Amino acid sequence: MDNTTLTPASYAQANEAAYLAELIEFLRIPSISTQPERADDVAAAAAWMAGAMRDAGIENVRLIKTARHPLIYGDWLHAGPEAPTVLIYGHYDVQPADPLELWESPPFEPDVRGDYLYARGSSDDKGQAYVHVKAVEAYLKTNGRLPVNVKFIIEGEEESGGESLEAFIPQNKELLAADIALVSDTGILSPDQPAIVYGLRGMCYMLLDITGPGRDLHSGSFGGGIDNPLNALSHIIAKLKDEDGHVLIPGFYDGVRPLTDDEREVLSQLPRDEEKWLAETGAPQLWGEPEFALVERLGARPTLDVNGIIGGYTGAGGKTVLPSHAHAKISMRLVPDQDPQEIERLFREYVTKIAPPTVNVTMKNLSSSPASVTDYTMPAMVAAAAAYEQVFGKSPVYMREGGSIPVIAAFQTHLGLETVLMGFGLPDDRIHSPNERFYLPNFYRGIQTSIRFLEEFGKSES
Ligand code: BES
Ligand code: ZN
Repeated sequence: MDNTTLTPASYAQANEAAYLAELIEFLRIPSISTQPERADDVAAAAAWMAGAMRDAGIENVRLIKTARHPLIYGDWLHAGPEAPTVLIYGHYDVQPADPLELWESPPFEPDVRGDYLYARGSSDDKGQAYVHVKAVEAYLKTNGRLPVNVKFIIEGEEESGGESLEAFIPQNKELLAADIALVSDTGILSPDQPAIVYGLRGMCYMLLDITGPGRDLHSGSFGGGIDNPLNALSHIIAKLKDEDGHVLIPGFYDGVRPLTDDEREVLSQLPRDEEKWLAETGAPQLWGEPEFALVERLGARPTLDVNGIIGGYTGAGGKTVLPSHAHAKISMRLVPDQDPQEIERLFREYVTKIAPPTVNVTMKNLSSSPASVTDYTMPAMVAAAAAYEQVFGKSPVYMREGGSIPVIAAFQTHLGLETVLMGFGLPDDRIHSPNERFYLPNFYRGIQTSIRFLEEFGKSES
């Protein structure tokens, strides 16, 4: 086929089946960044992505070693000095797949059922990151050029805090310099209602270690005389928030920037179907701070959650024991203008105060990143809205999301770069859960939307 007779959009459309086959290959690699024993798989996924970028015609593609997982850089910079530069970010690492028994098809054996591709990482974020590689390829294989300069920076640690990229950015400002960052690692409201996310929450993630006796003790001989670290941990956890979801750490809310009336109004008009949203979770009821609307609780209010508790006997039957230690993983989602370091300090101070003297407590920070908000009237947002409208037939709504992408704040701080979060996920993609999936029409529309965005942004003055 002589590709030069095709437009980028029609080329991408003609190659959908091939793109799906490639994505399936990528998804077979279990690149779980939090688990050290998966480091080789993570490296293999990086190498795969670098190869795919080279095949797409992206230049200067290289793997960059870091203290943990490799970064991938690549660019195409021949659009001319007047043309704007877009820095495209994505991540090739994925969340752990457990509990494995709940998957209907194995997490790393991608399976197409109906309109969906099932696999860990299909939506978050391999499928969404791949969208842009294919959009760029569609230009280079047809027109032989792009309407803008592009740079890619793809990381392998997003799901475990993103430290290596965060360290890399301030030292490579020139390499990463751009006019705008473009990221697809969020979702839209429904297949026919696109959305641009203009705010993400930040994170302060703490590990709490409680130790008591020097060994596990018989709970009959010692129970009543020696404190039990699991019980002590439960008391500490119970004092962190009240039953309505208000965090009880003094000063926790001091930095929270209240929503303006305008923003409350914008958010209240989001066409989110709360009943459907609840039904998809399987929970019996909605929950959270009663004085805030759901959309505000998810996007504009901070939270505190226990993600995991480790300790004691969890095998078959009963074992009568006072465990010698107990641990909890606790995350706090932050909003503008809470400072993650200050929140960590307040958390440590409060836990130290409420911990009983009968156990020893140590705390470790596992991840810290501030929240981010972007101006939704800037030219790149206008270009993104036009692109969505052309492909989805409807203009996007603007919303804040509850999740976090640590690098966005680092782009702002070190590179002065604003980000367009142009997502293609859906609320029922089950990211981080069993049976994660990507709605395939959104994969293909994503490629089309990226093609249009590059075109539109090339036309706008940046
Ligand atoms: N894709 C998500 C972020 C996200 C989730 C955006 C939901 C919008 C809606 C991202 O991969 C993610 O899960 N990030 C982690 C970061 C954390 C480990 C610092 C998160 O939010 O838990
Ligand atoms: Zn993600």
